[in-house]
Amino acid sequence: MSVCYLNGQWQDLADARVSPMDRGFLFGDGVYEVIPAYSGRLFRLDEHLRRLERTLTAIGMDNPHARSAWRDIVRELVERNPWPDQSVYLQVTRGVGAVRNHVYPAGVAPTVFLMSEPLVAPDAATRAAGVAAVSAADFRWLRCDLKSVSLLANCMLKQVAAEKGCVETVLFRDGFLTEGAASSIFVVLDGVLLVPPKSHLMLPGITYDVVLELARDQGMPHQVREVLEEEVRSADELWMTSSTKEVLPITRLDDRPVGKGKPGPMAEQMYGWYQDFKEAVMRRGG
Ligand code: PDD
Repeated sequence: MSVCYLNGQWQDLADARVSPMDRGFLFGDGVYEVIPAYSGRLFRLDEHLRRLERTLTAIGMDNPHARSAWRDIVRELVERNPWPDQSVYLQVTRGVGAVRNHVYPAGVAPTVFLMSEPLVAPDAATRAAGVAAVSAADFRWLRCDLKSVSLLANCMLKQVAAEKGCVETVLFRDGFLTEGAASSIFVVLDGVLLVPPKSHLMLPGITYDVVLELARDQGMPHQVREVLEEEVRSADELWMTSSTKEVLPITRLDDRPVGKGKPGPMAEQMYGWYQDFKEAVMRRGG
């Protein structure tokens, strides 16, 4: 059984019900977070809650809970579920309107929903081989910085990869790298780690921040700047990063090898630092 939280109630996920008039269902009018927990401890919880706050503000919604109340709910969810490593899904929608009207309704309570799933990070064999990706034109809207549940474009783009037996779709807009359909993308070129700066064209990834912090702290050469599509196609290494995939090398792009076609030394180094950092944070209590 999987325990979820819906509007103040703890219940079996299979029993949870939301109205079809919920604006999340009708309009994709809501926001979300995916937060990893390792050995029952949440990783970068406050950073995720800060991003949630930012997204809510950007779409004109009040935050239904103070930071400390969110922490309590998320921690209790993890305690109530059985798996040591979990991926917490948190969603807030603008709630249930009386009629279907695009305009935000007044005085409606938001719908707050959290569930958890076992977190299965890529295994050693997958990391050793790396994964294959395809590329596509980034046809999403101009507010990709918002972690909105309106993910149809991301689903369509990820499906392109799935249908070719690939793990991710690397997105380009006007000749520049943006991100992956559900991950941030890093590039290694001539010994330098490259990643595009945060903008309205990409999600400000929590893992993106961790990777850049580690690069800075460990002295790995890196540049945050626009990355050309040609640079991605001639990269020595390509990585996808996210809360669930951590740091995962992409070793094939559009059926061609990336670099030597196997994970590069900088990916291995960063993966090691990431694991050490995770353990240190967990030892301190998450
Ligand atoms: N996706 N970019 C996009 C479009 C994403 O959907 C994600 C994460 C990321 C990485 O963000 P973070 O490092 O904060 O996980 C970048 C989550 C995991 C999802 O939708 O399931």
